[in-house]
Amino acid sequence: MSNAPTEETVIDVEHYTDRLFSFNISRPKSFRFRSGEFIMIGLPALPDQKRPVMRAYSVASPSWDESLEFFSIKVPDGPLTSRLQKIKKGDTVLLGRKPVGTLVLDALLPGKRLYMFSTGTGIAPFASLIRDPETYERYDQIILTHTCRQKAELSYGLRLVESLKDDPLVGEMIGDKLLHLTSLTREDYPLKGRITSLIESGDLFTNAGVPPLNPEEDRVMICGSKDMIDDTAKLVAGFGLKEGSNSQPAEFVVEKSFVG
Ligand code: A2P
Repeated sequence: MSNAPTEETVIDVEHYTDRLFSFNISRPKSFRFRSGEFIMIGLPALPDQKRPVMRAYSVASPSWDESLEFFSIKVPDGPLTSRLQKIKKGDTVLLGRKPVGTLVLDALLPGKRLYMFSTGTGIAPFASLIRDPETYERYDQIILTHTCRQKAELSYGLRLVESLKDDPLVGEMIGDKLLHLTSLTREDYPLKGRITSLIESGDLFTNAGVPPLNPEEDRVMICGSKDMIDDTAKLVAGFGLKEGSNSQPAEFVVEKSFVG
């Protein structure tokens, strides 16, 4: 079988701010992935390019959905996103064949609470996981945090979580199991500060009404920029949680969200 990416059709594009947009593309019938995994995405090579520019993107849609959704940053001179941000319905997007990643339920040991710490487009893998019934079967409580610079950058997540109430598959399972905590760093907002500051000050746990992180009950997934991941993982490890992987499930897992 060829390893070349497949050519998919853009179904829908939505712009949230001058830095963020989401898009949906067709999904090949044979394309399977686990909620939380990422895949290579690209655009056909330009006449002066030898090969297409491909980048890793977390799949934001649930694994049962007919189309594939992605949440992307726009980097004005980024090799891929400078072009990708201009796609329109009907355009062609290249889709890799092999989804992979560590932000999957199987890379964590069973626990009581599942934290999903995200910044910016790092919410994408969690957008998939919070629409997966298995997430609610495995955990009593899901705490999804999303920290952005400005309010408009929270809209993708706020709208998604709001829509879950009426979701035919997970709507009833969710009940009050899912807590969505949003914070901003560069605009006034009820909860202000980086996720790292909120963990350090304990404000995160006070706001969620839960005890501080502990390796017996809590499992953590982290997705954001490299610095955000490094800093947050260090704090989480400081509470005694150990990093896991697909081959060796443990108490927390991390993945860098795409930039460029
Ligand atoms: P800040 O505004 O203080 O830089 P970005 O859009 O640049 O990826 O940032 C998304 C969010 O992640 C912003 O709120 C930003 O805060 C925050 N952030 C950036 N670096 C870190 C880090 N090292 N640890 C935690 N949060 C971070």
